[in-house]
Order: sequence, then structure tokens, then C-alpha cells
Amino acid sequence: MFKLGRNDLCWCQSGRKYKKCHSSFDSRLEEYARRGAVIPSHRIIKNAEQIEGIRESCKVNIAVLDYISERIKEGISTEEIDRWVYEQTTRLHGIPAPLNYEGFPKSVCTSVNDQVCHGIPSPDVILQEGDIINVDVSTIYNGYFSDSSRMFCIGQVSEEKKRLVEVTRQSLDIGLQQVRPWGFLGDMGQAIHDFAKQNGYTVVKEIGGHGVGLEFHEDPWVSYVSRQGTEMLMVPGMIFTIEPMINMGSDEIFTDEEDGWTVYTADGKPSAQWEIQVLVTEDGYEIMSY
Ligand code: MF3
Ligand code: CO
Repeated sequence: MFKLGRNDLCWCQSGRKYKKCHSSFDSRLEEYARRGAVIPSHRIIKNAEQIEGIRESCKVNIAVLDYISERIKEGISTEEIDRWVYEQTTRLHGIPAPLNYEGFPKSVCTSVNDQVCHGIPSPDVILQEGDIINVDVSTIYNGYFSDSSRMFCIGQVSEEKKRLVEVTRQSLDIGLQQVRPWGFLGDMGQAIHDFAKQNGYTVVKEIGGHGVGLEFHEDPWVSYVSRQGTEMLMVPGMIFTIEPMINMGSDEIFTDEEDGWTVYTADGKPSAQWEIQVLVTEDGYEIMSY
């Protein structure tokens, strides 16, 4: 790596001199690297201006999810949710990030019951009383990306499904307690995994969270079955999602061969997921989108 002089402009494009910006930060990073830690590249450390842009994107992302929350109910199709996401996102001058992303055909992912994630909205999927559904909204606004998802219970839902949804939501708070600068992503991953296990559930291993902000999916890949003290070091300016997929039964999953996207639980039991977007700050974290 190229060594910056103390009076050079910082690599983060803040316009400040290196010595007044990320110079001591880099020394600390190098120290962790020497001790064998996985450290983030400069590319995924956001400066104040980028963070502000990403915050604006998150506002649109949250507003779209709020819009869905007010309307979702028994009898509507997931295609209708897709239309609402498209209309509300574009009305707010955003772009739905999933649309045409690696060939994804719709503006949002809708995953019902035993669908784990990446469900494709369809006029044939009509929400029924007792269903649980994840609506995963990802937004591009002024070039910045945001990503969060919520679960909805349709009408009266069984106690066991309600508990799955509630425990999965609580797992985010458990994970968040571990988000701090100079901690490890594995601290968060293990906390979530332990909490899910204590509640009799399993956590999906193959699909995780991700860095986000300047692109839809950036480094790091984020596991929720990782171990304390492992995985990437968390540092101020890093932004990633916490989005565990928690299964009522086994953690085994498969992808629909016909559509190439929808992920299901192998045993047909329900799965739940909530997703938030988190910024690591100087003294902890900020929830940017939820
Ligand atoms: N929103 C998903 C995530 O949390 C990604 C969906 S990719 C798509 O990472 F193409 F299916 F939209
Ligand atoms: Co995500």
C-alpha cells in the first residue's frame, strides 16, 4: 500500500490533511493486521459526506417500508406489494435497487412462510390469514444505497410463528449490543447465533449480510453463525446490514431451480428475517435504516 505523507490529503476524500484525519486510524488498523485480524479496506470506510448521502437514501428506504406497513393485509398479492414499492420509491425520486439486479425481475423481495429470502412478487401469491412475510426493500437515492426489511404477520398468526418473528426481531438488538469500533463482526454473529439457539431455532449459514452504501453489496460478507473475536474488525465509517435468517426447524435451505432466486427451508418450516443497516461510529453505532 501507498504511504501517504502527513500533510497529504487524506485518502477518505474529506479534503483534510492525512495527519488530521485517518493517520492514527491507519496506525491502529496496521497494528490489528499485524496481530492477524481481518481489517477493512479503505474502500469501505465512508466519509462524512458519503454518510450524509447514505442517510438520505435510508430515509427513502424507511418511508417505502412505512408505506407498505400501512397497506399490507390479507387478500392482497405480493405483486401488489411490488407495485407499491415501485410507485412509492419513484415518487420519492429513488430507484428500487433489486429491479434488474443480476436479472432479478421485480422491485422488492417478498418471502412468505417457508420462503427464507429472495421471494419474487407474483400475482399468484395472495396473502392469507396466518401467513408471515418478509418484505425486503433496497433503495438507490442520488447514487447511494440503503437496504432494510421487516416481517409482517397477516391477521391471526399462530403463537409459534409469532414467537419466531419476535425472537428474530429481538436478535437484532442482541447483535447490536456487540457493534462497536475495534470489535469484531464475529462478536455480533455469535451473539445472534447463541440467542437463536437458546430459543430453539437455527440460523441460515449460507446467506448473510453485507456492506452497503456506495454499492448494493460491498465487503464485508456478514455471517450470523460466526465466532466471537473472528471475522472483520469493525471500525468507524463502516456500514453493513444485520439481517439474520432464523429458521423454526433445521438450518437447511435450497434455492428454487425454476426461478433461480427463491430460497426455501428444506423441511418446509417457517423462516423469519428482519434487516437493519448500521453505521459504526466513534463510540458505538447508528441505526441508519430499519
Ligand atoms: N435485499 C437483499 C439483501 O438484503 C438482496 C436482494 S438481491 C435481489 O441483500 F436481487 F434479490 F433483490
Ligand atoms: Co441486505
